Amino acid sequence: MLQQRDGQGQPVAIRREDYTAPAWWIDTVELTFDLDPSKTRVLNRMRLRRNPDQPTGALRLDGEELNLARVLVDGQGASFRMEAGQLVIDNLPEAFELEIFTTCCPVKNTKLMGLFVSQDTFFTQCEAEGFRRITYFLDRPDVMANYTVTLRADKTAYPVLLSNGNLVDSGDLPDGRHFAQWVDPFRKPSYLFALVAGKLVAREQRIRARNGKEHLLQVFVRAGDLDKTEHAMTSLIHSVLWDEARFGLPLDLDRFMIVATSDFNMGAMENKGLNIFNTKYVLANQATATDADYSNIESVVGHEYFHNWSGDRVTCRDWFQLSLKEGLTVFRDQEFSMDLCADASARAVKRIEDVRVLRTAQFPEDAGPMAHPVRPDSYFEISNFYTVTIYEKGAEVVRMMQTLVGRKGFERGITLYFERHDGQAVTCDDFAQAIADANPDSELARLLPQFKRWYAQSGSPRLLAHGSYDAEARSYTLAFEQSCPPTPGQSHKEPFVIPVNVGLLSEDGRELPLQLEGEGQATAGTRTLVLTEASQRFVFTGLDAAPVPSILRGFSAPVVLDFAYTDAQLLTLLANDIDPFNRWEAGQRLALRSAIQAITDSAPVGNAVLDDAYIAAMRSVLGDTKLDAAFKELVLTLPSETYIAEQLDVVDPQRVHTVREAMRLQLATALFAEWEQAYDANQDTGAYTPDPLSAGRRALAGMALVHLCLAACASGDAVWPGRTLQRFKDAGNMTDRFNALNALVSSGHALAAPALARFHAIFKDEALVIDKWFSLQAGAPDRGGNVLPLVKQLMKHPDFSLKNPNRARSVIFSYCSANPGAFHRTDAAGYVFWSDRVIELDALNPQVAARLARGLDRWNKLAEPYRSAAREAIMRIAAKPDLSKDTREVVTRALA
Ligand code: PHE
Ligand code: ZN
Repeated sequence: MLQQRDGQGQPVAIRREDYTAPAWWIDTVELTFDLDPSKTRVLNRMRLRRNPDQPTGALRLDGEELNLARVLVDGQGASFRMEAGQLVIDNLPEAFELEIFTTCCPVKNTKLMGLFVSQDTFFTQCEAEGFRRITYFLDRPDVMANYTVTLRADKTAYPVLLSNGNLVDSGDLPDGRHFAQWVDPFRKPSYLFALVAGKLVAREQRIRARNGKEHLLQVFVRAGDLDKTEHAMTSLIHSVLWDEARFGLPLDLDRFMIVATSDFNMGAMENKGLNIFNTKYVLANQATATDADYSNIESVVGHEYFHNWSGDRVTCRDWFQLSLKEGLTVFRDQEFSMDLCADASARAVKRIEDVRVLRTAQFPEDAGPMAHPVRPDSYFEISNFYTVTIYEKGAEVVRMMQTLVGRKGFERGITLYFERHDGQAVTCDDFAQAIADANPDSELARLLPQFKRWYAQSGSPRLLAHGSYDAEARSYTLAFEQSCPPTPGQSHKEPFVIPVNVGLLSEDGRELPLQLEGEGQATAGTRTLVLTEASQRFVFTGLDAAPVPSILRGFSAPVVLDFAYTDAQLLTLLANDIDPFNRWEAGQRLALRSAIQAITDSAPVGNAVLDDAYIAAMRSVLGDTKLDAAFKELVLTLPSETYIAEQLDVVDPQRVHTVREAMRLQLATALFAEWEQAYDANQDTGAYTPDPLSAGRRALAGMALVHLCLAACASGDAVWPGRTLQRFKDAGNMTDRFNALNALVSSGHALAAPALARFHAIFKDEALVIDKWFSLQAGAPDRGGNVLPLVKQLMKHPDFSLKNPNRARSVIFSYCSANPGAFHRTDAAGYVFWSDRVIELDALNPQVAARLARGLDRWNKLAEPYRSAAREAIMRIAAKPDLSKDTREVVTRALA
């Protein structure tokens, strides 16, 4: 395969500052496919014209792993040359028709980019640069064309033929073949092209929009899966209604299709009118899917649907602008899920879950060798930049804009953005400008150039806050200092615009009015302080005693807040804050404090890591009848090993694991009676529904079972493990069943083995459930190094396959990336296993391999002997001469 390489054959960095508009535009594309798994023929007929702004330059078309048969310019054989993998044609007229005839081999396409076959069905994946694996093209998002697509295939093997837009013609052909022709009414970049051909069935629903227009919604799956499509369809309908109600953005197509495939590198893809999904984010019924699956499906269906505007109608000028569509669309799907919540408590739960992802995955990325700005400056392989920074931090940047202009102001900004840029390929600057221009009197408009540092500077800012009370002046001063640690290529940072939502509580937990010095009126509740300087102070007056500050309510900015809270202050916040996020956060801070103390202590880990006050606080949270179960479950969940590790300068993963396990056991035994009560009080009696309220009850009951089994294993009691096994057998839904199985497996009880065997027997034909079966075992808490041998065993299981990304993730990622206590071994065997798998996967599927290669990003923080062993494992991978660009970039950065 040919890549962009320099004179020495090294891949070249692509730089944002090198952007130039294309020398040619493609106005129309007519594609004709003769679909055949081992040799698909593609005829690509295009109308091109020179871009008047770029009067010189040959036509250079991208192409990869294609067999080129013929090139015609205006119907005549044309001379062309191949240069660095591109097809180059000189001396072209100002406008012309170009025909290119190629073939490719979908069945050998294990990268799952371009045209591939999954379970006898053809699918495509073109983002970011997959279209060039289908035909020669200007494969860049700023080249937008009108597409007409004709699909021809065997009618028995491929009865359903789909592409973007509207079906305009179909019929039979000789030799048992048939055809379908599709026209997309919208211009689009090549990355949004899609086709699907195979034996599929659809759930269909007609809906009427506000303006009276009818739309056909379809969810295509394999025949046996139709009973698992109701939730995806419901989620799609909710998405259509929500985008119209909240942002005034209607569905612009007669037909909107979702198709599920079990072989997919990512979650799903927003191809115009023809979204292609990983089955994991479509298929659900109560027997096979957990509450978490239901909620993920709702988010992902929403996410892809919302891309129809934020991504498809207005797209990215170049891939450096990826967060333009991804950050905005994650923000939109987060808001969607929140707006579907019945009450403020459920909204807060969603917010806490989102922040947890940001802090356990994005903060480490921003502190590691792959740190990059929300709008990166360079890359070797764009596939490596579909990251939590682009997605989740990008969404936080959009959220801060909403905080600065208000919810209504933000909606005005979105309206202006789509009015201004509909049909265009634009930049992050264009987006921020539109939001600011729609709110000329806002802080955002006033501070826009500085605000945009969030797009340019990488690293998570640190916010050091300090409070002092002056009894005489009855005033309280909050002083802030912001800084941002150096990141690769950025040693110095300028101050950010940081919106900090603040409230003040009395020592007994009452919310106090906020009176800022020099302002007329005191305000009740939360205020947004907008920080712009490296250090800044705010004076609150009219206070009879030192208040307890509640800072960064709702996590109003993606920063690390450092404030020297006393334990007593944190307990006050935990018990009383009106802001549920900071209530939760106070509990996390308390637990983290104890964890870090025990980890950094030189003494062996005892069994009383948590102090009595914390246990008592957790006891009252569990018993609090005013709190929702979902919120309790979050408060009682200890910070993850990964999150704890991030707070340490030097990490001994084994010690972190031991301490956290000790904390879990302590919570299990100290609160045994409360866990029993929580379990009994949260049994559902009615029919299963995946709504947040009942899901929360199941989550808390499941958490209770885990702790009851843990305590039972320690004490030798057999009652709760027995009840858990019974619950596992009788459960009426997958959530309860899986939670029970998890309780047995994660407590290491002997009943886990028969339960696992039974689970496999029941669900052997449900691939997504078998993924759970693998993942639960590979992710189980390590006991004396038992997980790695088990993982190796699982890879020999007849159901295991490295080629299927979901399955590979369920075993290998669950172990290497999600089970630090088992993965980091003093004998380095986990790292050796990891490097073998990266190398093995790289030959099949570079995108998946490169993601796995991120597993040791934080090697530099590890204590010895882990650190040296990890470095060696990365070097083993780097020593392979024929690595993909994807994996090469990751290991090169890790060793830099
Ligand atoms: N654009 C997709 C999304 O976020 C993600 C994706 C990227 C899927 C690359 C496949 C390949 O919705
Ligand atoms: Zn997306």
